[in-house]
Amino acid sequence: MEASPEYAVQMHGIVKTFGAFTALDHVDLDVKKQTVHAILGENGAGKTTLMNILYGLYQADEGEIFMGGQKVNITNPTEAIKHGIGMVHQHFMLVENFTVTENIILGDEVCGAAGVLDMARARKEVMALVDEYGFDVDPDAKIQDISVGMQQRVEILKALYRGAEVLILDEPTAVLTPQEIEKLIEIMHDLVSKGKTIIIITHKLKEIMQSADECSIIRRGVYMGTVDVHQSNETELASKMVGRNVNLTVDKTPAHPGETVLSIRDLTVKDERGIEQVRGLNLDIRAGEIVGIAGIDGNGQQELVDAITNIVRAESGSIKVNGEEIINTTPRNTFLKKVATIPSDRHRWGLVLPFTVSENTALERHADDEFGEGLTLDYDKMRAYTTKLIEQFDIRPAGSEDERMNGLSGGNQQKAIIARMVTSVPNLLIAFQPTRGLDVGAIEFVHKTLIAERDRGAAILLISFELDEVMDVSDTIAVIYHGQITGTFAQGTVDENQLGLLMAGGEMR
Ligand SMILES: Nc1ncnc2c1ncn2[C@@H]1O[C@H](COP(=O)(O)OP(=O)(O)O)[C@@H](O)[C@H]1O
Ligand SMILES: [Mg+2]
Repeated sequence: MEASPEYAVQMHGIVKTFGAFTALDHVDLDVKKQTVHAILGENGAGKTTLMNILYGLYQADEGEIFMGGQKVNITNPTEAIKHGIGMVHQHFMLVENFTVTENIILGDEVCGAAGVLDMARARKEVMALVDEYGFDVDPDAKIQDISVGMQQRVEILKALYRGAEVLILDEPTAVLTPQEIEKLIEIMHDLVSKGKTIIIITHKLKEIMQSADECSIIRRGVYMGTVDVHQSNETELASKMVGRNVNLTVDKTPAHPGETVLSIRDLTVKDERGIEQVRGLNLDIRAGEIVGIAGIDGNGQQELVDAITNIVRAESGSIKVNGEEIINTTPRNTFLKKVATIPSDRHRWGLVLPFTVSENTALERHADDEFGEGLTLDYDKMRAYTTKLIEQFDIRPAGSEDERMNGLSGGNQQKAIIARMVTSVPNLLIAFQPTRGLDVGAIEFVHKTLIAERDRGAAILLISFELDEVMDVSDTIAVIYHGQITGTFAQGTVDENQLGLLMAGGEMR
């Protein structure tokens, strides 16, 4: 496509390599002025890299950038800002104990006559921006005291304060509640009506449908084309993203719950700083039932899992598995009660990366004497067992039992963990963010496995920060807020707005 003034940004033939790895292979992006343009791609597709190049954080090996039809050369963020480009990163870069105003002007201070920082003037300018865009932000509040959605608005204000005409938002909805997402989409549309251009990076199809005019798709560093969102649908976008047809709906039959497997009463758990993160929590899960915990990260989910698995000591309460008390015993004891965990951070807890697939598969099971006695391991037995799992769970590459774990993709590493957990035939399966960072195909596999385990009769505790996942997979949805379960619903009896309200600490009318 020719460089033309009707485009706010055009990136043509962008190539970026990291060592021997090609992250972007001749990628094009043409963003029309005054539109919301989405960049869609799976994890690791190269979305952030492309935007980091536009923002001057990385230099492209090849390719050209045009703004309004003019070729530009952006070698650092200061130049990007001069060209009217602003970027809100995935992880906010605000100073916690500074006020909103201080954060907005930080690095761009308004100076008075003698080079003294003119706070009063800065505050007035910030207020004017807040008014102009109708942001609900208190300029004098400290960052640590405001919600995540609010912090994000401060980041946006910070970019606008520096004169941004093109605003890049990198996965902006990952940390937001449904209500905050709705508000952000409103803000995006308002900014566009006031002349701005927005580039939003995401892998969430629903949000693209709700917010974007056009969508460019990148698959493993290769540009797959741009579609008019108004003429498209989620299924088309998904298949363009992954390169095959995917089933976006979770297929399952109604649950037939049996006896209670997990029963938690008045559980209180403190974190390492001594602050109560779980505060008198009650929860029951029956055999053949998936209970999904809906909540924003940091509301006690980690501490709940750590207490059940006996990684931390609880302050008080009771955790029973099949009627037996396990609170404040040992991880080994939890394991012996046939509780298996798919951890949220597979690198920290799930896998030993420098070990082979086969060694990893045998982890936790060596004490069963299955692979040898005492401290010696029967490697042949272990390998045969792993070969079977690799086949059964379609872990790729096939025949990879002697490959080191760190040579496998995230999705296949997760399959290896799930294979290990599922073959232990657990009574209770805890899935903590089981699909984090996985691509659509692997997500489909994880969900199917959870449902198959349920149908076998296991009790499933699903904890996820993706509300859609909780709503789609769970038979029962429990909202966690501030370390307590604040509502429990059968699937289909509650909508995402109601859940979002509870997740934010509100009450349902
Ligand atoms: N600084 C870097 N050094 C080496 N590899 C990188 C670097 N930044 C990104 N990558 C790699 O480039 C690929 C694309 O990453 P990224 O742009 O962050 O993907 P996305 O934002 O689409 O999830 C990934 O495989 C990632 O590991
Ligand atoms: Mg990214």
